[in-house]
Amino acid sequence: MSGIKTLGQFIIEKQADFPYAKGELSRLLRDIGIASKIVNREVNKAGLVDILGEAGTVNIQGEGQKKLDVFANLQFISALTSGGECCIVATEEEDEFVRIDSPVSKNAKYIVCIDPLDGSSNIDCNVAVGTIFSIYRRKSTEGEAVLSDVLQKGTEQVAAGYVIYGSSTMLVYTTGKGVNGFTLDPSIGEFCLSHPNMKIPEHGNIYSLNEGNYVHFPEGVKKYLKYVQVHDERTNRPYTSRYIGSMVADIHRNLIKGGIYIYPTTASSPNGKLRLLYECNPMAFIVEQAGGIASDGFRRIMEIEPSELHERSSIFIGSREMVTMAEGMMAEYSSEQDKHYGAVVGKVFQA
Ligand code: AHG
Ligand code: MN
Ligand code: MN
Repeated sequence: MSGIKTLGQFIIEKQADFPYAKGELSRLLRDIGIASKIVNREVNKAGLVDILGEAGTVNIQGEGQKKLDVFANLQFISALTSGGECCIVATEEEDEFVRIDSPVSKNAKYIVCIDPLDGSSNIDCNVAVGTIFSIYRRKSTEGEAVLSDVLQKGTEQVAAGYVIYGSSTMLVYTTGKGVNGFTLDPSIGEFCLSHPNMKIPEHGNIYSLNEGNYVHFPEGVKKYLKYVQVHDERTNRPYTSRYIGSMVADIHRNLIKGGIYIYPTTASSPNGKLRLLYECNPMAFIVEQAGGIASDGFRRIMEIEPSELHERSSIFIGSREMVTMAEGMMAEYSSEQDKHYGAVVGKVFQA
């Protein structure tokens, strides 16, 4: 086993970095790792068993739930319930947050926000999907944990991570001291440290967004798109377009190669499509820890004060120089109506 460091070993080793920690956060991360291995097993054999397709139920955002969404949701809730370190799970698949009432969770200090299966529309065609999670410390000090314990700003995250079920399965996480990636070795059933101290290149040449929505994009995004498509040898343009349609996979690729991922506001999603608590904030924490930027086009994602469990946000995330350029175009070219979004929720343009 020399030279191999498992996720479990790594977490225990890093526990000393947290003066207040008595091992609860380590155990929580371990529980998420275990559940993700079970989800990985099912995702891998999705084509073999009768588990594909719609579950027949619809989640609060009105999207059809795939059977594996439901399965993954149950696995994570179950692991977090038996682990005993988490008092509330807020998940994409449940309208309300789930309060964990088991006796072992009575004094639990942590809140978990989770997208159990991201990119689930890709399952039927064997394309990478993922899990995204975000961990907060409970703020309230007595009684049951409440909604305000969940509605914390991204800056309050104590840990965040994602699992990508791709050509190999990886778990990538941060506790605010850099980003580390672990690849699942199926022969021993362990996540092994494969990508220590991940850093996103300052600049890249990949842009990822659903260009089919072009007519509905804010003017700033249209201008940025034209910019990336112009021929310019000095800046290595035009850039390359890559869009998988699983946020986890698109951002994971950009994290390794350098690039920008954008899901802006559109006519059909005036507040953006992706969810702040369990998609934008955790990915923002990871990308910032890797040296990148995450913005809603006008301000830092992690400074948005959430007011709803399933709140959505636009997102511009990735390599520092690329996101800064896109933000500049948003500031310069967005219409008053586009800026209204920033004004209403961010008070950026209110003065
Ligand atoms: P989910 O499967 O958890 O609902 O998330 C889907 C999200 C995200 O993964 C992806 O980047 C985006 O939706 C794709 O949206 P479009 O199909 O509108 O491009
Ligand atoms: Mn998702
Ligand atoms: Mn999902």
